[in-house]
Amino acid sequence: MNRDKSNYNNMIYKKLSLSVLLFAAGFLTASAQKSPQDMDRFIDVLMNKMTLEEKIGQLNLPVTGEITTGQAKSSDIAAKIKKGEVGGLFNLKGVEKIREVQKQAVEDSRLGIPLLFGMDVIHGYETMFPIPLGLSCTWDMTAIEESARIAAVEASADGISWTFSPMVDISRDPRWGRVSEGSGEDPFLGAMIAEAMVRGYQGKNMERNDEIMACVKHFALYGAGEAGRDYNTVDMSRQRMFNDYMLPYEAAVEAGVGSVMASFNEVDGIPATANKWLMTDILRGQWGFNGFVVTDYTGISEMIDHGIGDLQTVSARAINAGVDMDMVSEGFVGTLKKSVQEGKVSMATLNTACRRILEAKYKLGLFDNPYKYCDPKRPARDIFTKAHRDAARRIAAESFVLLKNDDVTLIPGTPAEPLLPFNPKGNIAVIGPLADSRTNMPGTWSVAAVLDRCPSLVEGLKEMTTGKANILYAKGSNLISDASYEERATMFGRSLNRDNRTDQQLLDEALTVANQSDIIIAALGESSEMSGESSSRTDLNIPDVQQNLLKELLKTGKPVVLVLFTGRPLTLTWEQEHVPAILNVWFGGSEAAYAIGDALFGYVNPGGKLTMSFPKNVGQIPLYYAHKNTGRPLAQGKWFEKFRSNYLDVDNEPLYPFGYGLSYTTFSYGDIDLSRSTIDMTGELTAAVMVTNTGTWPGSEVVQLYIRDLVGSTTRPVKE
Ligand code: GLC
Repeated sequence: MNRDKSNYNNMIYKKLSLSVLLFAAGFLTASAQKSPQDMDRFIDVLMNKMTLEEKIGQLNLPVTGEITTGQAKSSDIAAKIKKGEVGGLFNLKGVEKIREVQKQAVEDSRLGIPLLFGMDVIHGYETMFPIPLGLSCTWDMTAIEESARIAAVEASADGISWTFSPMVDISRDPRWGRVSEGSGEDPFLGAMIAEAMVRGYQGKNMERNDEIMACVKHFALYGAGEAGRDYNTVDMSRQRMFNDYMLPYEAAVEAGVGSVMASFNEVDGIPATANKWLMTDILRGQWGFNGFVVTDYTGISEMIDHGIGDLQTVSARAINAGVDMDMVSEGFVGTLKKSVQEGKVSMATLNTACRRILEAKYKLGLFDNPYKYCDPKRPARDIFTKAHRDAARRIAAESFVLLKNDDVTLIPGTPAEPLLPFNPKGNIAVIGPLADSRTNMPGTWSVAAVLDRCPSLVEGLKEMTTGKANILYAKGSNLISDASYEERATMFGRSLNRDNRTDQQLLDEALTVANQSDIIIAALGESSEMSGESSSRTDLNIPDVQQNLLKELLKTGKPVVLVLFTGRPLTLTWEQEHVPAILNVWFGGSEAAYAIGDALFGYVNPGGKLTMSFPKNVGQIPLYYAHKNTGRPLAQGKWFEKFRSNYLDVDNEPLYPFGYGLSYTTFSYGDIDLSRSTIDMTGELTAAVMVTNTGTWPGSEVVQLYIRDLVGSTTRPVKE
């Protein structure tokens, strides 16, 4: 038994006996709970035992497990753990594996300090929810919090104590693939969602073994990369920062988020990972954040490429800026001892960073019980349960946005009626490269999902229509004509099994199926890895061969429903003009196939509303609703006037605006009723309106309130 560890264990027993004593003495007060003073005392004692190397070790977050998100993959993890050079690991999957590694840390290292186990659980663990951009289109904070709560229950059942979520980066540029991970363009909605996700993950205070630590990311302004190109330069005024981009990060801090992840991009010419103004002055000084900051994947070593120094220099700049944990670079573990010896990093700074990591572990209860999240009985009981899947199916359908639903005459001589929903009968053709792919249904960043377990759209619809209708299938086209592009867009096990037949052969087969059908479901759009990290696009059309397929399907004269899979706003001007019905299903998660069936057949009424503007073309980008009026606005109803702020070739409006979404029913709004007609800067008023379902379907409506400051000391958006 290691002497130091026995002391640490004795400390545990002392603490336990003390609390038992207090309890026995009937002190049923908060004092029997852990107090901040208890934590401070515990950590003081522990840190006094720690060597310089062990303190630096707590700041090290190497990668392990089969799932990596970047280039590097650390090796000989066990040896580093034994030497106390590891503070946590991430993207390791499986409670047995995690328990084994935790045991190494607790039993084989000198002080037995338990590890954090993180993972990118950003829209579900094994039960997958819609991609976050889809989730945001529910505008339903209860549902969003519920999805995070379920994700926490499942991830914690498998050993995970820390999730790198919520991603709250505001973005107004759909060329950027990571808009799929965020909550769209609006800071107020984004802030509400950030709070809901933190509540969902962390529960009350991470005391229970199904409450895990959240990590708000990517701080800061990552969604404003120039030209929508991932990792690109960000340069922004303070006014725009604090009016349009910072609020969701601040809201997560307000909600008590346990950690923050630094973003890859620079701000004011300094990479966020070394930006003291961001990481200390704003985050801690202005917002009062008291958790810890972790870098993004190799965020420290990438600052060599940013051009601000060698590994020792950038590592010192990171910790001196207020960054506490180094994901994968091994810059801290490799250079901080030297920097401390050379006086480039003070012992106080190192102690502060180390303390922050130990505090997180203490708050998670890992010192009381390092195996708190390692109950091998929980996975079978808590993961991918029917209750969780039912919730995911319900929430997925809430995320769908009905973009178009024209009246169509299905039977000659009968009155035209909205094409959706339709009663499943006869022959239903499901055609497209996304129609029969299980692995693409959950969407990007489904790192823990068992990808081939989710039913494809064809499989789900067949299951739902047995005995009612025949589902006919044809692939119709590959994802895109360029095979190398398709390869880049279908990485990480998301292959669409590129078909070697010619485009014409694929099309002929699809038309044969289409001509045997009564209605055509065209399952088209992006593959799941055409959005997400390192997936920026300059052309936001539905890919070429798919557009050709869609045009040919429309020529059959059969009614065509476009079921659109996408991780971002696309340019759908042609589709809006020619396709009678368009249902945007984003990537709906593990239950997406069933949720799409529920929407198509009218078992649910899709009520999602867009949280990001859909441009008419890429040239309009950045395009967002809360824009300024400029000194030369267009007159109402005009789309071009010389010497006004507009284009020669297209108007200023999006194809589908923020807040847009149709329904199977209609709603009317009564007059707005305000509780008062004036408020001062901190005042409040209540706005009420009577909403009536004036249609023939039950449905939900997202009532949106916008305001406008007509005259300000600075210019203000035309609406917020
Ligand atoms: C990635 C992402 C970040 C993720 C991290 C760990 O590069 O930028 O969002 O949490 O690495 O996988």
